Amino acid sequence: MTSAEIRSKFLAFFEKRGHSVVPSAPLVPQNDPSVLFNTAGMQPLVPYLLGQKHPQGTRIVNVQKCVRTGDLEDIGDNRHLSFFEMMGNWSLGEPTSPDGIGHGYFKKEAISWSFEFLTSKEEGLGLDINRLYVTCFEGDENAPRDTESPEIWKSLGVPESRIFFLGAEDNWWSPGDNGPCGPDTEMFYDMTDAGVGELSKEAFLNAVKKEDLIEIWNDVFMEYEKKDGKVVGKLAQKNVDTGAGLERITAVMQGKKTAYDTDIFSDVMEKIKSESKNYNEQYARVVADHLRTALFMVADGVTPGNKDRGYILRRLIRRATVRSLKLGFSETVSIDIVNIFIQEYKGMYSEVDSLKNIETIREEILKFQKTVEEGIKEFEKGVDPFILATTYGFPIEITLELAQEKGIQINLDDFKTKMAEHQKLSQTASAGMFKGGLANHNEKTIRLHTAHHLLLGALQEVLGKEVKQRGSNITEERLRIDFAFDRKMTDVEKKLVEDLVNKYISEKLNVVRREMPRVEAEKLGAEMEFGVKYPETVSVYFIEDQDGNAVSKEFCGGPHVQNTGELGYFKIQKEEASSQGVRRIKAILE
Ligand code: ALA
Repeated sequence: MTSAEIRSKFLAFFEKRGHSVVPSAPLVPQNDPSVLFNTAGMQPLVPYLLGQKHPQGTRIVNVQKCVRTGDLEDIGDNRHLSFFEMMGNWSLGEPTSPDGIGHGYFKKEAISWSFEFLTSKEEGLGLDINRLYVTCFEGDENAPRDTESPEIWKSLGVPESRIFFLGAEDNWWSPGDNGPCGPDTEMFYDMTDAGVGELSKEAFLNAVKKEDLIEIWNDVFMEYEKKDGKVVGKLAQKNVDTGAGLERITAVMQGKKTAYDTDIFSDVMEKIKSESKNYNEQYARVVADHLRTALFMVADGVTPGNKDRGYILRRLIRRATVRSLKLGFSETVSIDIVNIFIQEYKGMYSEVDSLKNIETIREEILKFQKTVEEGIKEFEKGVDPFILATTYGFPIEITLELAQEKGIQINLDDFKTKMAEHQKLSQTASAGMFKGGLANHNEKTIRLHTAHHLLLGALQEVLGKEVKQRGSNITEERLRIDFAFDRKMTDVEKKLVEDLVNKYISEKLNVVRREMPRVEAEKLGAEMEFGVKYPETVSVYFIEDQDGNAVSKEFCGGPHVQNTGELGYFKIQKEEASSQGVRRIKAILE
């Protein structure tokens, strides 16, 4: 059975049972600022799970485009894909008349239909019931043990010995810290030739880990709600949310270990194999996975950039490009691959079929190929891998490989420490995004970071060069600087500093990054953080006034705005003692 057949069988099966077929929502959530991409079929349906009436009724069936980029390092193994299609059937609300078509349903119907679709030869997949295993929720402080689901499974012919009870970690589904959630029952299929047979619970868990048993479907009984990570009670209505990954089911149906061996990827994998000079299965999988995801992202309007969705897209394209270069082919082959995916998917998802999608991906690949070439030149000049990574976006894996070829030692721990420091700012920012749902959080902290540099420059101008930074902290709302100075600032001094920073802002000064040997930066008098050890080559941020005099020069990994004109109005909120001989200022941008 082809993947396309599985998809249409699924839709037809549930349509026949009173479900309205609803098209996939775009990958980019339309009304939910708390996530960057839809990661499950339920996400676009959250309002309806919470009680809003769905225009197409209480029974819905869909195939939702999903992206999960939590851990890109896992891509290339047998199970993880950054893009996948989730098939799902939905009941939104309780049954109002038993088994009435058009009304909601709960455990009995959901489980019976899952079973029927999996095992029926006529209308379903015709899978072998003797290879089916299921898990149910064992209960905890939030909700009782699910005693109904196992009874339903048994009534359908699944023996008790193949039903296992697990805790919330495995059998409770929620999309995150907030929203509808509930216990679930999961279905697994035995992929071994001989069959794993009777299993103890421990052996079952082991077989799942070994991928002898593959999870193929999840029926969630969403009748609870989570707030800030805690289950707070029941929802106004009972819902069913089921999810079956098309790629997984296809692999099972085609008797393959991974989606890459199915019809979904086979043409692309063959193409990669025939174009590669040094074939490597792992790299080939990453290229195939990432280019497919990139295509679906650009088809839904995402463009490569430096933050949020754009950054994820950029990373995917870069990771794919690095590997394609290692395999030994360049952008023309990558674009051929994208074209294969377009042909495959355009019938189902017409948005993929556009020249603009191809051009966006091609441009980004070309840009990055150039970066890699420049990075190699810089590397040959002896530039620090950290600078290569942050300034050139040059991947450490390439640096390591080049170093090995040339017999140069790279201090990976040093690199990791610097990267961790560098990423602190943007990570805090994107973590905040998921909590607060503010799309421009990142930008706010970046602006405050640049204002922080201007403030230090202004303090030195007004109070004297002996003012030295002793600490800093930036949140979305404000910046904080600690600096060595031995008395309280007067109101006049505070006003002068504030005015000077606002003058720098109104003059729209460029913020320029240069990397240079540390000794040179020291000679120039760039500000260093007290007690920090800097590498041989450093990055320095310069902000110069119209006459070319530096109003700020600091050793710093960034990120910063490009021009001070982007900052807004600067205001000091507080000046106080921090410790002996150290003052503290808190300031904001309005
Ligand atoms: N929402 C459930 C899942 O994603 C079905 O597994």
